[in-house]
Amino acid sequence: MGAGLLASIRTAEASGGLSQGDAALLRFPAALELLEADFWIQYNELGGIQDNEVPGGTGNPDYTEALAALDEDMDQYIHDNTDDEITHHTFLNAYLVSKGAAPANLDAFRTLMGSTATGVNPDLIGHRLTNLTQLTVDTSWWTRYRDDRHNPDFNPNHVFPQAVPTLGVNQHTAIPRTDADTSDPNFLQAIANTAGFHFPTIEQGGNSLYPSLAQRATDVEVLRILLSIGPTETMHFQTWSDKAGNAPPLTAVDPVTGVSVTFPDLDVDNELFKKNLIMPEPCPFLDRSLPIVSIIRPTNTEGVATGALAFLTAMGLFIGQSTGFFAYMKQLAQDADSATRGV
Ligand SMILES: [Fe+2]
Ligand SMILES: [Fe+2]
Repeated sequence: MGAGLLASIRTAEASGGLSQGDAALLRFPAALELLEADFWIQYNELGGIQDNEVPGGTGNPDYTEALAALDEDMDQYIHDNTDDEITHHTFLNAYLVSKGAAPANLDAFRTLMGSTATGVNPDLIGHRLTNLTQLTVDTSWWTRYRDDRHNPDFNPNHVFPQAVPTLGVNQHTAIPRTDADTSDPNFLQAIANTAGFHFPTIEQGGNSLYPSLAQRATDVEVLRILLSIGPTETMHFQTWSDKAGNAPPLTAVDPVTGVSVTFPDLDVDNELFKKNLIMPEPCPFLDRSLPIVSIIRPTNTEGVATGALAFLTAMGLFIGQSTGFFAYMKQLAQDADSATRGV
């Protein structure tokens, strides 16, 4: 995926019905949605509902049961979240094409191994875009939305405490890598808990990304697309943030890597951690002289695409990907961050 393709993307834009900036503001999320769909499909094959809407897997009963400890409808929510992400990239790319602009295309990078455990789609072993087996999960969103004094847009250096500090260091698998990972119930629950915290960590990212990008859209229809998809990510986040608090407290050691993880009991009196405080607390916004307000945060638009890519990369989601993959994603992010509102 070299400079020639990137140049041809820009040429296609120049002749399309969208401004180069608006196309870039849709193409970057289209690529992220392809990535989201790729890992949600992996989750669904193992832990979701198997049907024609989200085909390919056969389900892993032990993993599905461990996920159900967080909520008995986890399989339904995993299925529906997966279905949503597939429609997000399909729509965004179809819209780009309908306007004569190039879609996002990651097919050249479907090279990662993924799980070989019971339930996966055998045709996709070795053909994944994302890696769910070496995650470092930043759970600071948990306290960010419970803190009424700090907004990351105002306080970029404020450290919001992690809900699950041990998930924020080292590498953890969120899916059974092989059937051996399902033999110890305690470790399997740790895997399911890791997934339970990975879900809202991802979705809060989309929750911030869409309103951040939307601020620089020029065409009202492009603005409408970004404003209409973004809140569905918020709906996902809200559901998952509620379920994550139900992760059974435990400590487990990964038998393959030796890495330890501890899920604390979040049924506590401390308002920064208490598990049922899932509605967003208000926080400072725009100007400290204004009253605090309940909002999505952060929503600073500057550099947001590059920041989102860095966040997902630091998470370990792309471990094993090629330099060509990172070059392509970086170019899409830079193009999105270069877009300016032209009205
Ligand atoms: Fe999405
Ligand atoms: Fe999403």
